[in-house]
Amino acid sequence: MNHLFKIIAVILTTFMVVPLSAGASEGPISIIGKQDGGIGNTTNYLDEVPNISVDPKVNDIIYPLFSTPAIKEKNQSLTIKIDSQGKEAAGWAVKLKPTNHSALTETYELPVQKVTEGSSHWKNSSKIYDVTVQIPKNVPEELYDLEVTYTANGQRKTDQQPHSVKVLDKFNKDFTFLHLTDTHIGSPRNLGNQDDPSTVSPGRLKEAGMWDPDPKKRWLYLQKAIKEVNLKNPDFVVVTGDLMYGQMNPQEYIYEYDETYEMLQKLDVPVYLVPGNHDYYAQDATLADGAKYWEQYFGPQYFSFDYGPYAHFIGYNSFDWHKFDRSGHGTVSVPTWGGQIRQEQLEWVKKDLEENEKTAQPDQIKGLFSHHNPLWRDRDIWPQDDPDVQKYWKQYDEQHNPQSIETLTLGEKLGIQYDQQWHGENAHELIDVMKQNNVNLSLHGHTHIDDVTEKDGILYTTTTAIELSGKPWVGFRPFQVKNGNVTSYNYEEPGRSVPVYENGDTESGVMSLESEYKNPNDGHSTQQTVTIHNRLNKAMTVTIPIYLVKGDYDVSEGTVKQNVRSGDRQYVEVVITVPANSTKEIEIK
Ligand SMILES: [Fe+2]
Repeated sequence: MNHLFKIIAVILTTFMVVPLSAGASEGPISIIGKQDGGIGNTTNYLDEVPNISVDPKVNDIIYPLFSTPAIKEKNQSLTIKIDSQGKEAAGWAVKLKPTNHSALTETYELPVQKVTEGSSHWKNSSKIYDVTVQIPKNVPEELYDLEVTYTANGQRKTDQQPHSVKVLDKFNKDFTFLHLTDTHIGSPRNLGNQDDPSTVSPGRLKEAGMWDPDPKKRWLYLQKAIKEVNLKNPDFVVVTGDLMYGQMNPQEYIYEYDETYEMLQKLDVPVYLVPGNHDYYAQDATLADGAKYWEQYFGPQYFSFDYGPYAHFIGYNSFDWHKFDRSGHGTVSVPTWGGQIRQEQLEWVKKDLEENEKTAQPDQIKGLFSHHNPLWRDRDIWPQDDPDVQKYWKQYDEQHNPQSIETLTLGEKLGIQYDQQWHGENAHELIDVMKQNNVNLSLHGHTHIDDVTEKDGILYTTTTAIELSGKPWVGFRPFQVKNGNVTSYNYEEPGRSVPVYENGDTESGVMSLESEYKNPNDGHSTQQTVTIHNRLNKAMTVTIPIYLVKGDYDVSEGTVKQNVRSGDRQYVEVVITVPANSTKEIEIK
């Protein structure tokens, strides 16, 4: 905490002494160089500030990561990618370790099967190793931290990635995943009535918990959503960006990235992350670039993953703009917050889908997810009879990229008037690629509303925000897949997500789905009572993790999915369906 306050103090001091207009606006447009962005080459503000350093979370392990975990069956092989920073490496040791959620202590050695020279689609390095290991049979079904140790230059080196490997007995043909979006840690918009930002309401103030010194009270809306997601225990979760705010002061990424990274580790399921505009601004372009922070905390901006043979997903960056377009002019205002995908990324998506088609079984679900929805193109939805709109697109087409200050300013004005959705290039092209490769699903955020549109055989879903500004409520969207078909994705019609708060009421703070443990759930008790409240209008099936002293136990309700002994602890996992608007109690002794 002290560290956090120190950071904020330094930022506030700097913020006060450096005029907001300093920075990008002083640089003539002619300095835009050949590199992407060209406005300064500094990774982050911290290079300039003594006594604060960024602690990169992505180091030697570049796959699997917290943001792109691997889901594997027992006995399957896993190929880990290691960037040895140019050094020759040998003497590999790979382990799975319990996550921050587990009261178990056992670690599992993964035998190394082979080591070869590798490559990465996102990380430039002169030396990448592909280290293939096997998941042992005795590893319980859980999410794990990965630890890799190797020798380079005569020294042992260890790197870790939390929550990066999920082990399964078996991939389920019928599976579930959840979509949440726009968590906006650090956002000041949570405090009052969303239609009148000048108001502050006591309930919302509490739920926002803006930088409360007690981490348990910060961003309660997100903490509550995560608790519900953990109860639902989906096979995986996708989060489509705007994880933080990034639009208050030019240096806030320093603390918001850190806070977001910590907060998302409260999820006890594999999570896949892509950036939104708020995570990717180059707010003060010479000092802080969100794109660089993303790489250091989460790694790739686009990637694909499989849920066994049953699903292939691509996460892509729909805020794929030149650094100049992503920059504010040294102020909190930004010219572009709409979507775009540039040619290089589009080609990668196309190639990935084509590669996947070669081996895909017929009932594989294919999904893409990003922050912006390519169906909603500004050129199509902004009113064509507005002379400013006509002028804007004319100038935009003539100058394209980079644009002049006048065009950017007009774009910002129109964006505020009509809002920016998919603002830039390649929306139609991307949709064509999706259609050509039999994509079923396209998942998005950005607008903070629920919407479902089916077009040309593709289901486009937009999900409301986790931030308190979400409409009609704060919520997440659960998807159910059965026999190769998406069978459910709405909590209720039309296209509604599951509300995080009872009846969507953020003021009350009451969760829609909640569990309470009578004793601490830490492996020191010999009995436990868990009460589950389902305040939703639909039955909910939840997974309850129970840690006890090792022994044999009877469970009063539900189905025991796992019963694992580890050291002197017993882990019992109970699955139970709680009918709509009711409470269930599980007793275990
Ligand atoms: Fe957002």
